[in-house]
Amino acid sequence: MELETFDRFAQMVYEISGISLSEKKQALVTARVGKRMRTLGIQDHREYLKRLESPGGEQEVILFLDAISTNVTSFFREASHFDFVREMHAEWLASGQRRFRYWSAACSSGEEPYSLAMTLADLVTGYDVDSRILATDICTEVLVKAQGGIYPIDRAEGIPEEYFSRFLKVRSINGATSFEVKKHLRDQVVFRRLNLSRPPFPMTGPLDAVFCRNVMIYFDDAVRRTLLAEIKRVLKPGGFLITGHAESLNTLSDGLTLVRPSIYRKN
Ligand SMILES: C[S@@+](CC[C@H](N)C(=O)[O-])C[C@H]1O[C@@H](n2cnc3c(N)ncnc32)[C@H](O)[C@@H]1O
Repeated sequence: MELETFDRFAQMVYEISGISLSEKKQALVTARVGKRMRTLGIQDHREYLKRLESPGGEQEVILFLDAISTNVTSFFREASHFDFVREMHAEWLASGQRRFRYWSAACSSGEEPYSLAMTLADLVTGYDVDSRILATDICTEVLVKAQGGIYPIDRAEGIPEEYFSRFLKVRSINGATSFEVKKHLRDQVVFRRLNLSRPPFPMTGPLDAVFCRNVMIYFDDAVRRTLLAEIKRVLKPGGFLITGHAESLNTLSDGLTLVRPSIYRKN
């Protein structure tokens, strides 16, 4: 792909998703765009760009974004975050709180919100609580996987053993072993498509905690700033924003206090 064509793709990706693609990503973008083009039988990158920009190209834009996005995730990724939520949730329960709202803001294929759901379900046994997790992503392909809640068995790494029989069911289809998130846990999570670069968001809050992990690294400061303003709007005072371990808000942490590495409390 010529640099000029890459720049047009990068500009389009930025406009529709807020993801900044540096020139270092040229090979990656070429490979991912190439996959879509082969499916459509298109040989020329400029022709594919035209298709994306043409009236009626909206559906292809969604599939293009699906192809471009990086969806790496795992169950109980950065496990200390779930330990932290366990601590806070137990405190809130002890103080009499019975309504809980969490948001997994870039949930990918569901491992993050389901890890959260297992953590919370473990704590609330015996309490009459109203607890819900909203899980959103821009990528439609991963949302379908997330809703299905079925994963190859090798994705089970990281899931505490005691959770396995309570929340998951092992199944074998055509000789391949997988596991399924049980319905009572799936029902705790609502999945929706939401573009984090397009505020305002439809939620009103107040939310107890927002997981916004390993997605802000793809955004520039302008997109991060508007996203953080929205997260602060929906968080309750004393609620938490949890980011990826490799992410730092630096000068953008206005109105938030860092309480542990990668965990911020709304003032
Ligand atoms: C690397 S995954 C992180 C998944 C999970 N939060 C974790 O830490 O394991 C990044 C996710 O962000 C999503 N994403 C990228 N840009 C987005 C946007 N503008 N709005 C919503 N989700 C976005 C991608 O589709 C992808 O699923």
